[in-house]
Amino acid sequence: MNSSYILGAGCYVPESVVTNDDLSRIVDTSDEWITTRTGIKERHLSQGEKTYEMGVKAVKRALENAKINPEDLDMIICATITPDEFMPATACRIQSDIGAKNAAAFDISAACSGLVFGITIASQFVKTGMYKNICVVGAETLSKVTNWEDRGTCVLFGDGAGAVIVGEKRDENSMEIIAESMISNGDKADILTLEAVPFGNMLKKRPDKMPDFYMAMDGQEVFKFAVKVITDQIKKVTEKANLKVEDISFIVPHQANVRIIETAAKMLSLPNEKFFVNLHKYGNTSSASVGIAFSELLESGKIKKGDNLVMTGFGGGMSAGAILLKA
Ligand code: UT7
Repeated sequence: MNSSYILGAGCYVPESVVTNDDLSRIVDTSDEWITTRTGIKERHLSQGEKTYEMGVKAVKRALENAKINPEDLDMIICATITPDEFMPATACRIQSDIGAKNAAAFDISAACSGLVFGITIASQFVKTGMYKNICVVGAETLSKVTNWEDRGTCVLFGDGAGAVIVGEKRDENSMEIIAESMISNGDKADILTLEAVPFGNMLKKRPDKMPDFYMAMDGQEVFKFAVKVITDQIKKVTEKANLKVEDISFIVPHQANVRIIETAAKMLSLPNEKFFVNLHKYGNTSSASVGIAFSELLESGKIKKGDNLVMTGFGGGMSAGAILLKA
């Protein structure tokens, strides 16, 4: 087996910023409630920019950082729960826009675990030697599936895209993927949902009322699931890598709620400072969140050669995963 690496990352968020105060003018909420219960202060919302268009911007930055040409991509995997169309895949729209004419392109649906699942898939293709350069992008316009009258959910989400390039080692900046882990629990699927087009055909009429196409969740159940799986997944990849959790320099978790992250830190007896947090600026951007956070961590210059990093995602499915990297 070959080794696989992360060669670069990039992200993009739409320009328009919506603050907690802005939300308090449309639903019965407050900056104080949102900040203390979630850590979120503001989020970026698309004003019509499509999921694939945001994906393209993140991918172009990732390619630039990895010094890879679009034609050198063998595969594009787009993780999204908010595609612009059922068909073609968002990844194909991205492929066409960037001119990655030698790539296979397809979407995956693993909600907020999407980027981590996508990197794990990509990593296997590099390890077997089938492909050399793969782009994994998480892109979401969650604002179009948010119920703007429900204060329990509308304060949580934002739009954006995050991308990484997975491939063979290029230079001393390539970060080796040491261990991967993925898990799903379909028995808990109903605690976080987003309905699709209802059944209907010539044999059975569609219901008269279409679904609302909004995200719905049992927040407390999702919270409990998240804390448990984050800690489990971090332990799993550290054990696989023959390391201890104390050996991890930075953890890039899915950015849903700062209280989830702090509870997980406590359960792992790790300081909060080891967890990279940027959800105050973007809210929860589902499959984009780990990519946006990872890009910002790379840009911060905090990572030193030899550092062990973990990316971890959890979300709808229910699903969860983690990846351990060595800088
Ligand atoms: O990517 C994964 C996606 N989802 C998540 O990660 C969500 C995980 N869960 C959470 O982050 C938290 O459960 C929430 C932030 C969603 C909610 O926090 P909570 O501490 O679990 O609040 P709660 O649902 O128990 O609600 C407490 C109170 C309720 O009022 P009453 O019944 O006590 O009078 C809610 O109606 O807070 C009320 N509430 C709000 N008040 C002001 C709920 N949302 C709001 C709001 N502003 N936006």
